[in-house]
Amino acid sequence: MASQSIQAVVLAAGKSSRFNTGSSKLLEKICGREIILYATKLLEELSLPATVVLGHNAPEIRRVIEDFHAAQQPLFVYQNHQQGTGHALLASQEAWQYDHIIVLNSDMPLVTHDVIKQLIQKHLQSESSASFVIAHNDDPSLKGYGRVIKDSGGIKIVEAKNYHGNLNENCCVNAGIYIFKRGFLEKHITSLVPNSETKEYYITDLIEIASMHGNHVETISVNFDHVRGVNTLKELWAAEQIKKSELISYWMLRGIRFYAAQSVHLDLDISIGTGTSIGFGVHLFKGTHIGADCRIDAFSMITKSTIGDKVVVLPHSIIENSTIATESKIGPFAHIHSESSINTQSTIGNFVEIKKSSLGIKSKVKHLAYLGDTMAGNEVNIGAGTITCNHNGKTKHQTRIENNAYIGSNNTLIAPLTIGSNAFTAAGSVITKDVPADALAIARNFQVNKQGYALRLKSKSPQEITSNEQQPELSFLGALKTYNDIVNGN
Ligand code: UD1
Ligand code: MG
Repeated sequence: MASQSIQAVVLAAGKSSRFNTGSSKLLEKICGREIILYATKLLEELSLPATVVLGHNAPEIRRVIEDFHAAQQPLFVYQNHQQGTGHALLASQEAWQYDHIIVLNSDMPLVTHDVIKQLIQKHLQSESSASFVIAHNDDPSLKGYGRVIKDSGGIKIVEAKNYHGNLNENCCVNAGIYIFKRGFLEKHITSLVPNSETKEYYITDLIEIASMHGNHVETISVNFDHVRGVNTLKELWAAEQIKKSELISYWMLRGIRFYAAQSVHLDLDISIGTGTSIGFGVHLFKGTHIGADCRIDAFSMITKSTIGDKVVVLPHSIIENSTIATESKIGPFAHIHSESSINTQSTIGNFVEIKKSSLGIKSKVKHLAYLGDTMAGNEVNIGAGTITCNHNGKTKHQTRIENNAYIGSNNTLIAPLTIGSNAFTAAGSVITKDVPADALAIARNFQVNKQGYALRLKSKSPQEITSNEQQPELSFLGALKTYNDIVNGN
């Protein structure tokens, strides 16, 4: 909505005392986006120039806004002492320059374009000095909203604390979105007086002032869910439930099957391809893009990652900042992170961690393995229990595993290292040197079988085996003798 005559002020300086977390509620995220950004983004989308009033946690809130609105920043003003919503509006006075000023509490993440458009339209058409949004709230557990009173004396908003009637009977509440003629504000903002109980200046008193001075005041009534405020952690939870349901419905309409929608968490800024199914308790965080016909199974969490078409992610897998290409199979209990990439038709199996590594086409790391700082080619097979030792205590080193190499089970690959194409490493090897292409590397001790020795051990009492006085030839596990002693039959 382009309008040359309207500007917006966002009140974001409050202390969030009812939140009881110590920091501003506006920094909390709903579906991956900080609450403050719901207001600033809405105004940007409506092309309304915005001024944000900052106070409590000002630097943090400002940084969040600046990062998000990199292209077009709002203006910032400061309310150094938090003396109420009327006082916060006054702090923005230096920025007033348009004919009408729309003022928004910033703790209402569910406000829609329609609410703002309707309010502006009604205000302009009726040529009111002040207009504001009301809603019908009949939830007795949500008492903290100002009540709207219309009678022969005019219209006013009475804060719940100061309301003497039955709060459950008057369900008409002030939503916290107003629009004023600039002239009216300039004339009357300084006539606000502190509330007798809280000593705060209330923006809401401007409605009574307007009415008392014979100025026209308009209201529009909207669905309460669109203007729910977030003052407590319980209200944060309620608002996020509504937002999540909205997102889930959106994706359902686009052909995504949710097996237990109530248990799934979706952020904004994700995408999911048609035909994909999402299991119980799946979390898809910001920056995640999932292709078509995928299966994301129970309790998997995916953050800022791209998943190709027809990928299967088995339960309890975590994928962060990584890419998984088409038709790959991940998990269960896999952890892929730190800019790793898994190419087409590859398999990352149970209890495998992949960190800052890439895997080529049709490669397999199926059981209990760790690849860190590794570049593995196509059709590579990494045996169960294999790990890359990429960190020597000081620096990280790379491992390179070329196409078709076969790493046996339980290998320890000490980086920096290159395993050539088609090479083979024997199970249980500790590989410290490069392995040329097509070679077999064996790097482990040889086995010795001592005939009948187990029977001799069994015939001795535990005291005989462990006593220092009666030194046995071997400890129970052979640990008292060296490898050479055993081989030489000593
Ligand atoms: C306010 C309204 C109430 C309305 C409700 C709707 C007042 C006095 N009451 O109550 O009628 O029903 O919103 O949600 O306005 N803020 C500042 N500086 C301050 C105090 C607050 O910038 O000194 C900001 C807060 O950051 C917040 C907004 O103003 O974004 C509203 O403050 P809040 O404390 O949430 O007001 P409510 O008690 O919810
Ligand atoms: Mg509030």
